[in-house]
Amino acid sequence: MPYSEKVLDHYNNPRNVGSFDIADPSVGTGLVGAPECGDVMRLQIKVNPDTGVIEDAKFKTFGCGSAIASSSLATEWLKGKTVDEALTIKNTEIVEELALPPVKVHCSVLAEDAIKAALKNYHEKQDTTDAPAEKSA
Ligand code: FES
Ligand code: FES
Repeated sequence: MPYSEKVLDHYNNPRNVGSFDIADPSVGTGLVGAPECGDVMRLQIKVNPDTGVIEDAKFKTFGCGSAIASSSLATEWLKGKTVDEALTIKNTEIVEELALPPVKVHCSVLAEDAIKAALKNYHEKQDTTDAPAEKSA
């Protein structure tokens, strides 16, 4: 099954490859692996803490062309979304956009999982960094 043109485009010219400082409190990092094939994807978001808008996103994927294309597309879709909007990105939308065949659906699941993991990590960081000091009544 040949890759679709959109997969090849993202594969040959991946958007937003790279990484942010994992210790930055405005950065959320998701690291996920696919048990089906052992491919690994790391996706990071950089959030404006005042607006909740994802200002930048980066990825590094050690995996197949479809996984690289899925994560590249995911970073494009994440930019400009709020952290709540980002939660609604579905792997099925990635499948549709990239015309992934059934055997490659799990590559898009990996991207959705990576998004969710990055968001979760971001929220966890806010809980610890923004936790208001206990007020004495
Ligand atoms: Fe070989 Fe995904 S199965 S790269
Ligand atoms: Fe496993 Fe693509 S073949 S992520």
